[in-house]
Amino acid sequence: MNNIILLGPPGAGKGTQADLICELCNVPKISTGDMLREAVASGSALGLKVSNILDTGGLVSDDIIGSLIKERLTKADCVNGSLFDGVPRTIGQAKQLTEMGVIFTHVIEIHVEDEIIVNRMSGRRVHPASGRNYHIDFNPPKESGIDNETGEALIQREDDKPETVLNRLSVYHDQTKPLTEFYMNLSKEGDINFYKVDGSKSVEEVFKDISSNL
Ligand code: AP5
Repeated sequence: MNNIILLGPPGAGKGTQADLICELCNVPKISTGDMLREAVASGSALGLKVSNILDTGGLVSDDIIGSLIKERLTKADCVNGSLFDGVPRTIGQAKQLTEMGVIFTHVIEIHVEDEIIVNRMSGRRVHPASGRNYHIDFNPPKESGIDNETGEALIQREDDKPETVLNRLSVYHDQTKPLTEFYMNLSKEGDINFYKVDGSKSVEEVFKDISSNL
């Protein structure tokens, strides 16, 4: 069983690499970001509760994330492991996952400097229904503004505005970055393979680095 975590700042390329890794390892992607955006789009009670947090780049509470993950892990497709994209994001969430009995085999940190991130986010375009990501320069769709698979229109995410991106980066450094040390320490005990890849390389090169470690 492969349970893999992708750690890294907003815009590091977690979602982009997650899709490639899921295909390679034949495991589903668990992206709390995608789940929360779906809740907002559907207008559910959860969506109404978290909408403003997502728009301003804060973190949704550990309790809400814990419930979402617990429910997701009951689905049959998780039986051979899963790819956790952007979760856990706090030490509290990491501990919750351990309490749920999730045993991680690999933790991959995608490292990218803040300056590169701000530039990347302004060019990101997303297919809302699938979460597929593009970039107008670095990873463009075949036809501008159109999803490759469905032919539907791409959008810009509300939280990709420069001021929100800066807040998301600050939240990342305060609350999520400490997880790298947390998992590095666990890897010294031999239970987890922890490694860091340079996310400033091309999408193909980053994937090559990741897959050579899986
Ligand atoms: P989430 O959706 O998880 O956002 P994020 O972690 O901020 O990550 P992003 O999706 O912005 O970036 P990414 O690393 O996936 O990069 P991508 O591949 O898209 O979370 C959104 C919000 O939900 C959070 O702010 C929070 O409010 C809430 N939330 C979610 N999970 C939570 C949790 N567990 N706890 C609490 N709150 C939670 O790439 C970015 C762009 O760069 C794209 O345009 C892409 O095409 C391009 N690109 C990718 N790789 C490369 C490359 N190598 N070179 C050049 N360009 C590249």
